[in-house]
Amino acid sequence: MGVNFVTHVIIFIENRLYSCGRKMENKNQTTKEKEVKILAIESSCDETAAAVVVNGRKVCSNVISSQIELHKLFGGVVPEIASRKHLEKINQVIEEALSEAGMTLDDIDAVGVTYGPGLVGALLVGVAAAKAISFAKNKPLVGVHHIEGHISANYIEHEALVPPFICTVASGGHSHIVLVEDYGKYKIIGRTRDDAAGEAFDKVARSIGLGYPGGPKIDKLAKQGNSKAIMFPRAKIEDAPYDFSFSGLKSAVLNYLNQCEMKNIEVNKADVAASFQASVVEVLTMHTLQAAQDFGIKKVAIAGGVAANTSFRESMEKVCKEKGFEFYYPSPIYCTDNAAMIGVAAYYEYINGTRHGLDLNAVPNLKIGQR
Ligand code: KG4
Ligand code: ZN
Repeated sequence: MGVNFVTHVIIFIENRLYSCGRKMENKNQTTKEKEVKILAIESSCDETAAAVVVNGRKVCSNVISSQIELHKLFGGVVPEIASRKHLEKINQVIEEALSEAGMTLDDIDAVGVTYGPGLVGALLVGVAAAKAISFAKNKPLVGVHHIEGHISANYIEHEALVPPFICTVASGGHSHIVLVEDYGKYKIIGRTRDDAAGEAFDKVARSIGLGYPGGPKIDKLAKQGNSKAIMFPRAKIEDAPYDFSFSGLKSAVLNYLNQCEMKNIEVNKADVAASFQASVVEVLTMHTLQAAQDFGIKKVAIAGGVAANTSFRESMEKVCKEKGFEFYYPSPIYCTDNAAMIGVAAYYEYINGTRHGLDLNAVPNLKIGQR
């Protein structure tokens, strides 16, 4: 039994080392073949996350400590509480990510960290942790744009995906249509003029008493509702076919609810959820498709928290199939905030030569493509 146990442990460790690309040293291994292991850190909003990613495509660990339960009490993210919670959790999360990957800080080649956009106090915690590791262990530091991270989540499970492609990023803070020209080379071709898609989900969910975060709750409730029950608006912006506007839709839902209250009509929440979701999904899908057609790009991806939405995924899948486009989307765990996606983006930055100094700061309104 003793021998069996030892054999199992050895096999386990060997498998672990193999899966993380740490196979016993191969003397013939050239520098070109050397694996790049990135420790990635993400703390831009309400998830404290760390991951180890090898060669930008293989996730060895992906640890996420969510603060959702805490912020639920306030109906949304409270920035001050988020920062304090990140501070409490960051070391533990990093240690867990390394240990799950079977590595120590000495094994990693670089530290990648989200330095914007996001909540400044929250970002600072991740940036400070990354800088401390970079300084103490003399490892290169690579700052990553949060949205570039979301886009890069698509590389994790789609080995064949290479730029150029169109990616629609819809999250709690952003709604962009991005032309990914190359690794690390992005052009924003559409953006929201007001609310982000996820923000609209959260606000509408609150107005029908579903609580925070609203996206997954609306997604679930909508399955029991009729998406054609209420005709909510689909906003179009003149001369800006790829831009979005969700604030009118949010107001239309609020008006509908008020009118029902005034007329003493009982609200069918599932119908409201389904009809609201149908409006967001139609606009996101159609604008993405239009962009792909106009730019002559046949590969289309989605990313960000709203990309986890069942109806959005189905709608994109359907239209892409009809048009003969290749469609890519990450698993839900890589849609919402995580550090694996930051590790992927950091890898491509790293091999492109991006290095940040210890003066790296949190930039709450960081622009895509800004280095
Ligand atoms: O990407 P993310 O985790 O954080 C930001 O960068 O903002 O996105 C969070 C947003 C929230 O607004 C949440 O309600 C929304 O994504 N979300 C969803 C779903 N899951 C998360 N929206 C619609 N359907 C979902 N299943
Ligand atoms: Zn995000």
